[in-house]
Amino acid sequence: MKNPDQGGGPRHIAIIMDGNGRWARERGLRRIDGHRAGIDAIRRTVEACDDLGVEMLTLYAFSTENWKRPPTEVRALMKLLVDYLRDESDLLMEHGVRLGFLGDRRRLPVTARRELERVLDRTSGNRRGRLNLALNYGGRDEVVRAARSIARDVSAGRLDLTRLDEHTFASRLDTAGLPDPDLLIRTGGEMRVSNFLLWQTAYTELWFTPVYWPDFDKTHLTQAILDYRGRRRRFGALDPGP
Ligand code: IPE
Ligand code: IPE
Ligand code: MG
Repeated sequence: MKNPDQGGGPRHIAIIMDGNGRWARERGLRRIDGHRAGIDAIRRTVEACDDLGVEMLTLYAFSTENWKRPPTEVRALMKLLVDYLRDESDLLMEHGVRLGFLGDRRRLPVTARRELERVLDRTSGNRRGRLNLALNYGGRDEVVRAARSIARDVSAGRLDLTRLDEHTFASRLDTAGLPDPDLLIRTGGEMRVSNFLLWQTAYTELWFTPVYWPDFDKTHLTQAILDYRGRRRRFGALDPGP
């Protein structure tokens, strides 16, 4: 078996952390217990990425569609995420990890936004790794927000529409300046993207597992990385000749 510690990427892994509810139901627990166990899986995964040389990790924690869930679950999830940020910021500092945020923070509860901004600020000088949290994030919402910001600049005469290209468009997305994910993992068995990183995953390798997010660990991550390394990414071109 190839050593997962060796080079060859992926540099940037994105994860749709799904299956917390089913994990809890199968154990006769409440959905929120599944989300709590999911927080432990986040901790493990951040550590594992550091061990395995993955520089950037982007986690889908709450989608723009997840507001449709019962208010008690939404509130509990927000609280768990705020507590996570509060408890984890020391560890992020220890590992030299900078926090990033994807999504529309305006709709977040004030406490969540305040904690988020504190940790974003505190970790802003870290350079060793990067953890992006997608919270109140939707790929379509992100594209519309980018289009609005471009339209505003065009109508104010700050941007020449004839100069708008993919690069300029990407610079208006929440992921401005970040590399696209090399690998997208979805746990929990569903094979869909559920509005995650629609623009950025144009050429991302996809990896699905039936494992519920609270059970996801370094072994699974290692397997995903090894599978990724066995793939050929052509980006629409042909393989180089022999
Ligand atoms: C993922 O687990 C966590 C969030 C979407 C916030 P789910 O809560 O979607 O778990 P399942 O899909 O119901 O099992
Ligand atoms: C995707 O999971 C969103 C997150 C993991 C945050 P969902 O559970 O919301 O996705 P669907 O509803 O099954 O597509
Ligand atoms: Mg789900």
